Amino acid sequence: MSFPKGFLIGASTAAHQVEGNNIHSDYWAQEHMTNTSFNEPSGIACDHYNRYEEDIRLMAAAGLNAYRFSIEWARIEPQPGVYDKNEIAHYRKVLECCRANGVEPIVTLLHFTSPKWLIEQGGWENEATVGRFAAYCKYVIEQLGDLMHYVCTINEANMGLQIAAIARRYTMLMQQHQSAEGKVQVGINLENPMLERMKKQAMENVQVFGTPQPQVFVGQRTENGDLLVMRAHRAAVEAIKSVRPELSVGITLSLHDIQAQPGGEAEAEREWNEEFLHYLPYIEHDDFFGVQNYTRTRMGKDGSLPAPAGAETTQMGYEYYPEALGHVIRKVHAVLPIPLMVTENGIATDDDSRRIAFIRTALDGVQACIDDGIPVLGYCHWSLMDNFEWQKGFSMRFGLIAVDRETMEREPKESLYFLGSITK
Ligand code: BGC
Repeated sequence: MSFPKGFLIGASTAAHQVEGNNIHSDYWAQEHMTNTSFNEPSGIACDHYNRYEEDIRLMAAAGLNAYRFSIEWARIEPQPGVYDKNEIAHYRKVLECCRANGVEPIVTLLHFTSPKWLIEQGGWENEATVGRFAAYCKYVIEQLGDLMHYVCTINEANMGLQIAAIARRYTMLMQQHQSAEGKVQVGINLENPMLERMKKQAMENVQVFGTPQPQVFVGQRTENGDLLVMRAHRAAVEAIKSVRPELSVGITLSLHDIQAQPGGEAEAEREWNEEFLHYLPYIEHDDFFGVQNYTRTRMGKDGSLPAPAGAETTQMGYEYYPEALGHVIRKVHAVLPIPLMVTENGIATDDDSRRIAFIRTALDGVQACIDDGIPVLGYCHWSLMDNFEWQKGFSMRFGLIAVDRETMEREPKESLYFLGSITK
């Protein structure tokens, strides 16, 4: 593989998943509820808040030249309108550490977690969130923009619609399950533990967030909420540019390689429109676009199909299919001819040789895109280290570096050196 000079090869993390003690965030509150859906709380996560220097050094020593990480809104603005200078000082040190190690920082301003107060005030369905998010972004850029070049406003802004679709399918299945009870002449209990938990959660949500359905970022989004997120992106871009017009600003989306199977053409088209195309008016004038891809989705006439029989799957349960990345880049470029950056791509596995194989195939795909003239700026692997995979806790291993959960000791995997060798 030989990438153009200046091509970025790096790794990604998100504040809540690695830093630890994100106590003012909505996630922290959810993790500590009695009826929580989280397997375990994030706790000190990977203690990256204190160990960022070691982590950045390991990355640089292996040859990586970019680090995509997120700044935590809940730390910067723990109460509405109250900014914490100490946290600004912290992120300044992280940015300086990147620069000192020859690593280009790629900064995300919102990666799933929000301040708890934002959710208490209506969260990601409340129009006021647009202005609040832009104000936070402006403040961060005023304070730290001098050390930045690439900025992602919002991570996977399309997540809410994907979750809404999954939730609709689930609710239907659960309801079918319950109505089956009346169909047999015997006293069986088909009560659904998931539905029960949802009811209890709703009651506890009222105590914790003041509403039964808190509108967190990774939640079921309405169509209006979906576009509200896009308006928040546009407002953030304007706010950032008003301070530092020279910064390169974009957004990232979670994109599957959607493949129509015979008869599934219309479904595939509908899905691609929902997942990507309808956002174009909000992103086509951005400086770059962040592609995040992990696998493919095959579509039949009634919707998505399971992985083909016998296909290798990852710890996340979806298909091992690294070819997806190149396919997605091509599909995106066909309608969005601006510079692209792979801001996430990765695999959860305990078998690091599969991670190396995954990276190799994925990067072959990227290289072929570049050879065909598609402007790809860089590739950031998810993730720099094994970390807190949201509701699944620490059970998923996406990292290029292993983290001992007892001692927090770091152990680089072969895949870190493999990825780093590409820049050499
Ligand atoms: C998210 C990450 C997550 C990763 C692996 C992406 O959807 O941006 O936060 O850990 O996928 O599931």
